[in-house]
Amino acid sequence: MADHTKFKNLPSKITLDLSTSNNLKVLEQLSADTVDSTLTTKQLLKYLSNGLLLSISADREAIGFLAYRYVLDEAELDQIVIDKQFHNRGIGSVIIQTWHGLLKSRGINKVFLDVRETNTPAIKLYDKSGYKEIGRRKGYYLQNGLSIDAILMVCDLGSV
Ligand SMILES: CC(C)(COP(=O)(O)OP(=O)(O)OC[C@H]1O[C@@H](n2cnc3c(N)ncnc32)[C@H](O)[C@@H]1OP(=O)(O)O)[C@@H](O)C(=O)NCCC(=O)NCCS
Repeated sequence: MADHTKFKNLPSKITLDLSTSNNLKVLEQLSADTVDSTLTTKQLLKYLSNGLLLSISADREAIGFLAYRYVLDEAELDQIVIDKQFHNRGIGSVIIQTWHGLLKSRGINKVFLDVRETNTPAIKLYDKSGYKEIGRRKGYYLQNGLSIDAILMVCDLGSV
């Protein structure tokens, strides 16, 4: 597990594990409660059955998830969600670092993602985790009748 001693007010144990069907209900609820998550129950199940859904737990209680895909040496972060009451305490940063370690151990060296230009917490998280903007998709998202650009980002795992 990554060192998180520099962060304040963290639960004593943050873990990232392969999700099982036991905590799927909690993860579905977290996804449904998050405007920035577009993952449906059906999609979560697909990630789960492919071993690509990871549970984020604080002191053994599921508080979030990370869904991803990979092909050869490249991965795509499709979604990371953390329960609102645990935001801004460094958990996202710890989880991304831990996940990067897992990817590296499988020979993956590049990670891609896209994020809404309005999602400041996520952009800050990715910036500080080593992601760089590589492009934009104009009006890619539609939210409350407004079109929002997607920022495309990449992280070279050799440099983090
Ligand atoms: C994005 C998300 C996973 C970040 O998790 P987190 O545990 O809060 O992240 P951290 O505490 O490690 O914070 C990372 C950075 O974001 C900043 N941040 C966190 N919450 C913030 C907020 N509400 N407003 C502004 N900045 C915020 C932090 O300050 C930190 O930057 P800093 O260290 O430079 O100050 C979380 O906000 C979340 O689950 N959001 C809803 C789902 C989502 O948007 N997922 C991403 C889709 S692309």
